[in-house]
Amino acid sequence: MSERLPERIEDDIKEILLSAEQIESKVAQLGEEISRDYQGKDLLLVCILKGALVFMADLMRRITIPMCIDTMAVTSYGASTVSSGVVRIVKDLDAAVEGKHVLIVEDIVDSGLTLSYLVSYLKNRKPASVRVCTLLDKPDRRQAPVVPDYNGFVIPDKFVVGYGLDYREKYRNLPFVGVPMDRVWNGDGEGPA
Ligand code: IMP
Ligand code: MG
Repeated sequence: MSERLPERIEDDIKEILLSAEQIESKVAQLGEEISRDYQGKDLLLVCILKGALVFMADLMRRITIPMCIDTMAVTSYGASTVSSGVVRIVKDLDAAVEGKHVLIVEDIVDSGLTLSYLVSYLKNRKPASVRVCTLLDKPDRRQAPVVPDYNGFVIPDKFVVGYGLDYREKYRNLPFVGVPMDRVWNGDGEGPA
């Protein structure tokens, strides 16, 4: 089947949940908080690719203390939007985290399965601490007891895209977070869980 391509991706969004301005000021606030909390500590930000890429890029520039970054890529859903509960590491960390204060940067916590797996995986590598910073928290569908240490926004149980978050790898480049039009999944009859 040929894919329907809108001229502008904005045209596929029916509701803007968080504007670029709202996100910007929240990210600035999180950066200040993290800078204060990790003062004098060996901070390592671990970006969970690809969803947290945009958030991470903005957040790290709001952190005013010395820090390093690393990246991991995991899949929990594959191409579907239904959580399988299985987390597969596609790309591991580049360097050891022993003795470092690890802050996992993730786009969204939904079922919590991805983050609960990642936290225990990283804790096994003898870091000084492991904490979690998420842009979005969707608590309604939680299956694992994950509470982010830092979170931007609590959102309702809607499938959202933009600011790094995708639907089938698209819409990551929207500067805001929004809800896609129904036609986005009506195209092939398959929608989010
Ligand atoms: P969890 O393991 O169910 O908490 O899922 C976390 C991952 O699912 C995130 O890193 C996202 O990639 C994806 N995800 C969950 N909810 C959404 C959403 O509303 N939009 C886009 N991706 C989502
Ligand atoms: Mg995703």
